[in-house]
Amino acid sequence: MAPSWLSKFLLATLLSTSIAEAAISTSPWRGLPRLPRVDVAERSLARPDGTELPSLATVYQFDQLIDHTNPKLGTFKQRFWMNWEFYEKGGPIILMTPGEADGDGYGAYLTNQTMNGMIAQQQNGATVILEHRFFGSSNPYNNLTSQSLEVLTIEQAMADLVNFAKTADLPMPGGDQVKPNQAPWVLVGRSYAGALASWTKLKNPTVFYAAYASSAVVETITNFYELFNPIRDNMPKNCSADVEAVIAYLDKMYAANNNTALQSLKTTFGLGNLSHIADFAAALQNNLFDYQLMQPTTGPGAMFYQFCDALEVKDGVSAPTSGWGLQHAIQAWGNFWNTTYYAYYCGTTDAEDCIGSYDPNSSFYTDVSVGNVWRSWFWMMCNQVGFYQTGPPAGQPAISSRIINTAFFERQCVDMFPQKFTKPPTPSTAATNKEYGGWDIKVDKVFFATGLRDHWRDSTLSADGLHHANTSSQPIYETDAYHGSDMSTANGLVDPSVLRVQQAGLAYMKTWLAEWHA
Ligand SMILES: *[C@@H]1O[C@H](CO)[C@@H](O)[C@H](O)[C@H]1NC(C)=O
Ligand SMILES: *[C@@H]1O[C@H](CO)[C@@H](O)[C@H](O)[C@H]1NC(C)=O
Ligand SMILES: *[C@@H]1O[C@H](CO)[C@@H](O)[C@H](O)[C@H]1NC(C)=O
Ligand SMILES: *[C@@H]1O[C@H](CO)[C@@H](O)[C@H](O)[C@H]1NC(C)=O
Ligand SMILES: *[C@@H]1O[C@H](CO)[C@@H](O)[C@H](O)[C@H]1NC(C)=O
Ligand SMILES: *[C@@H]1O[C@H](CO)[C@@H](O)[C@H](O)[C@H]1NC(C)=O
Ligand SMILES: *[C@@H]1O[C@H](CO)[C@@H](O)[C@H](O)[C@H]1NC(C)=O
Ligand SMILES: *[C@@H]1O[C@H](CO)[C@@H](O)[C@H](O)[C@H]1NC(C)=O
Repeated sequence: MAPSWLSKFLLATLLSTSIAEAAISTSPWRGLPRLPRVDVAERSLARPDGTELPSLATVYQFDQLIDHTNPKLGTFKQRFWMNWEFYEKGGPIILMTPGEADGDGYGAYLTNQTMNGMIAQQQNGATVILEHRFFGSSNPYNNLTSQSLEVLTIEQAMADLVNFAKTADLPMPGGDQVKPNQAPWVLVGRSYAGALASWTKLKNPTVFYAAYASSAVVETITNFYELFNPIRDNMPKNCSADVEAVIAYLDKMYAANNNTALQSLKTTFGLGNLSHIADFAAALQNNLFDYQLMQPTTGPGAMFYQFCDALEVKDGVSAPTSGWGLQHAIQAWGNFWNTTYYAYYCGTTDAEDCIGSYDPNSSFYTDVSVGNVWRSWFWMMCNQVGFYQTGPPAGQPAISSRIINTAFFERQCVDMFPQKFTKPPTPSTAATNKEYGGWDIKVDKVFFATGLRDHWRDSTLSADGLHHANTSSQPIYETDAYHGSDMSTANGLVDPSVLRVQQAGLAYMKTWLAEWHA
């Protein structure tokens, strides 16, 4: 046991640091979404009465059913973390899954650095993080082959949350007496996990009493070109103008089959060795995916800003709204790749190995080892959620090349999971939306929060032109900020629009939880 002065010291140290939004992995992203995560909260804790608590990094294990439709298959170890510093008997259990990520490093989601802990602090609740099946170290089987991944579905993930709430004996005093008929359970989630929280609440209204859904991507969309609209609308105008010019040129040369021009373009970026132009087009998307790490607390050094500065600031002068035009944009973007971005994205890996997507024997497709979170998420995309980040239909401004279409991803599904797919599969997004309501979801006591600058906004209840009913049973709130910004307490301290939504969320939790009875 650490002395209590040390606990207090560690506590003070951690709380003074804002949530670090770091990249999940150092491996190439390949167009898959990068989600911000938080640093591991390695610290000791004490309750107000001085009782010391285990470190937030302490890992607990739950025996979860491998297949909820066939319990005979037995169980696997599902990891969870928890914190009961604010807990008093009768308080709620605040449960979150990080979704498509390794659960390591989500410690701040147990504390009042996030909405989870803010709700717990207000309501004298306990916080729990439950790792999603097939991500991190919570794996029903010891590999990620198609055979094993058969039990990676939205339905199984929902059943995991339900089974955990109904049967887990939580490792805290009185933790065996907090089943959903004994204590209120509140689900929290962000992004896919936010949608999952609302769907799980919808289907299990008596297990989960309320939910907080942040940037919840409730409408699954196969051809999700709209992802780039908020990015285009919120990036510097000169930068979007120049990116559009380069993309229009790329698509025009591709349509004209002008291989000389295409080769010269690739070479300018130091990507002359890439054999497929679609892989080049996909590589360029990465400069836009860096928008995913933007938060109200993001400083000017962010990679997304570095990119726009590289394109728009010439000899200390910044371009007018219309940008510098095609020729300079090609040279400046190419030079940015050559001098900065290639090393950031690929390290010393050869371009084809780093970016190429046409070799079914590459480790990108064949690495079935557990912990390969992209493979698990790819499985979910190919099967149930789509969310392929493509170029827009003709006639709309494009900052993402139209060479990237749904077929680009559906081919990869076959290469990734040849045992499952013999031909390019269409994800069952229509069935997913029918089952869970999509944009039409009507669910009681779920608070929806989304950022107006969130690039995933068009798949949420705050999508352009949607106007979903906003009621006291299903409130919909919007920040001026980004993807999941409302989850972080630090964001509320710098952005009043975030604070307003966080306070509304807390007020709803207070009202709803006051009405709970066993
Ligand atoms: C957050 O919780 C800590 C205890 O872990 C407490 O000392 C601090 O005052 C809380 N912060 C806020 C803003 O309530
Ligand atoms: C993968 O796990 C399955 C269980 O789902 C097992 O039957 C199979 O032998 C394993 N395959 C490999 C290649 O490890
Ligand atoms: C031009 O780009 C620079 C660098 O990203 C940015 O600071 C500036 O606001 C932009 N100006 C316009 C008019 O878009
Ligand atoms: C290919 O594109 C280049 C640069 O835009 C142009 O100069 C050239 O004439 C084009 N070639 C053909 C065959 O169209
Ligand atoms: C980028 O690197 C390639 C190959 O190393 C080179 O041919 C090209 O001229 C460079 N482009 C710029 C803009 O520096
Ligand atoms: C392109 O490939 C050749 C041969 O494999 C290699 O020598 C060269 O360094 C590569 N160029 C770049 C820019 O990666
Ligand atoms: C992939 O590997 C298999 C077995 O080693 C080989 O038969 C096949 O030709 C390879 N495919 C490609 C596209 O390299
Ligand atoms: C929903 O209603 C609340 C309460 O009237 C309001 O504060 C909030 O801004 C509304 N949300 C939207 C998206 O209009």
